[in-house]
Amino acid sequence: MAELPKNDIADLALAQQGKARIEWADRSMPVLRQIRDRFAVERPFEGVKIAACMHVTTETANLMRALAAGGAQLALAASNPLSTQDDTAAALVAEYGISTFARNGVDRDGYYAHINAALDGAPHYVFDDGCDLVNTLHTTRTEVLPSVRGGCEETTTGVIRLRQMSKDGALRFPMVAVNDTDTKHMFDNRYGTGQSTLDAIFRATNTLLAGKTVVVAGYGYCGRGVSSRAKGLGANVVVTEIDPTKALDAAMDGFRVLPMIEAAAIGDVFITVTGNRDVLRREHFEAMKDGAIFANSGHFDIEIDIRALTELAVAGPRRVRHQTDEYVLADGRRLLLLAEGRLVNLGAAEGHPAAVMDMSFADQALTAEWLTKNWQSLAPGVHDVPLEIDKEVARLKLETMGLAIDVLTPAQEEYLNSWEHGS
Ligand SMILES: NC(=O)c1ccc[n+]([C@@H]2O[C@H](COP(=O)([O-])OP(=O)(O)OC[C@H]3O[C@@H](n4cnc5c(N)ncnc54)[C@H](O)[C@@H]3O)[C@@H](O)[C@H]2O)c1
Repeated sequence: MAELPKNDIADLALAQQGKARIEWADRSMPVLRQIRDRFAVERPFEGVKIAACMHVTTETANLMRALAAGGAQLALAASNPLSTQDDTAAALVAEYGISTFARNGVDRDGYYAHINAALDGAPHYVFDDGCDLVNTLHTTRTEVLPSVRGGCEETTTGVIRLRQMSKDGALRFPMVAVNDTDTKHMFDNRYGTGQSTLDAIFRATNTLLAGKTVVVAGYGYCGRGVSSRAKGLGANVVVTEIDPTKALDAAMDGFRVLPMIEAAAIGDVFITVTGNRDVLRREHFEAMKDGAIFANSGHFDIEIDIRALTELAVAGPRRVRHQTDEYVLADGRRLLLLAEGRLVNLGAAEGHPAAVMDMSFADQALTAEWLTKNWQSLAPGVHDVPLEIDKEVARLKLETMGLAIDVLTPAQEEYLNSWEHGS
């Protein structure tokens, strides 16, 4: 048997099961598959080392396969302790020969040990999902910085952190905001988070949404997806916001808009997707009904103040179902926290459907290829993905869906590029 790549995973015996699931996801990722086939021929990553900190799911495994087909030497660490699929991690190591550091349920020290292990190989490029790897590089692993030419960031929260680093003059290499492409946030954040967040709530609680009041905190891309899907299932959706334009958007989409303190008293299910901290806190728990369920689908486990909940409760947390912890208040009310407040769609379900990640990871793969050719001309800071990549991913996705669109006539093109024509 060939020597295995460096790894720290839970159970190699799960490799076959992981491989079968990775191949299943691959069936719904035709765009990434086309890119993988091209990479296998053109080998754009020959001699290139990439360290990634991403959710270790079947879809990520297919991104790693595409990069490996292009010749990259990879090291993958998990970007969340609860999202790791142990069978996927096993298959990555045993079936695809990819160095992987990820175990479901690791503690904080284990989480950072894995990120550090991925950085040990002195990567040329970094792929991040939430900015923990880039943050580690700039704080405790600065000796690795000279090898890094650039990287990509996958999520809204990571891009916000990177922009702050850049503003403070701290960011030492170019990072490309993959999250900001239309083909990522308009689909992954909206349709992916929308569907998989509800999927996770069902898997954890098997609750019926029809007729229930669902409170969605944050009406950004993710919040819009969650709200419209909950409405489609018959829930009465209440939106909370801090941004007047987003609140107006929610109101005109037909949702009730309330401050959280008022929503807290009437909600049956609460979902936070803000990227902000303490969105559900003590005064909200005190107002909630018996049996209220709450979950976070924002990137970090800071949106629900679990410390305040623990202090308020007289009993709990007690695990009552899959990823469902019950806290009992002094008057007997039971409050139910899902996935320990970590992003619920990856903690209690499998994350986004592969068909959506097909686009996000096609963006990642093409951006990585573009970076290998352009890193020297990019200043340290946050950069946009070139529009051509975004449009190419949309074009390929449409093609794989069997959909055709119109093309501009010469007269239309001339009209759009002129200013002389009036009424
Ligand atoms: N679960 C997943 O798989 C997944 C997928 C994509 C993004 N994310 C994460 O979800 C979060 C939201 O992403 P997005 O793309 O929707 O961001 P976004 O910036 O489009 O939307 C966030 C919204 O939250 C609002 N907000 C901020 N603080 C608030 C508060 N205290 N109360 C109510 N609303 C508040 C903002 O005004 C904004 O409208 C980020 O952390 C992102 O990284 C998760």
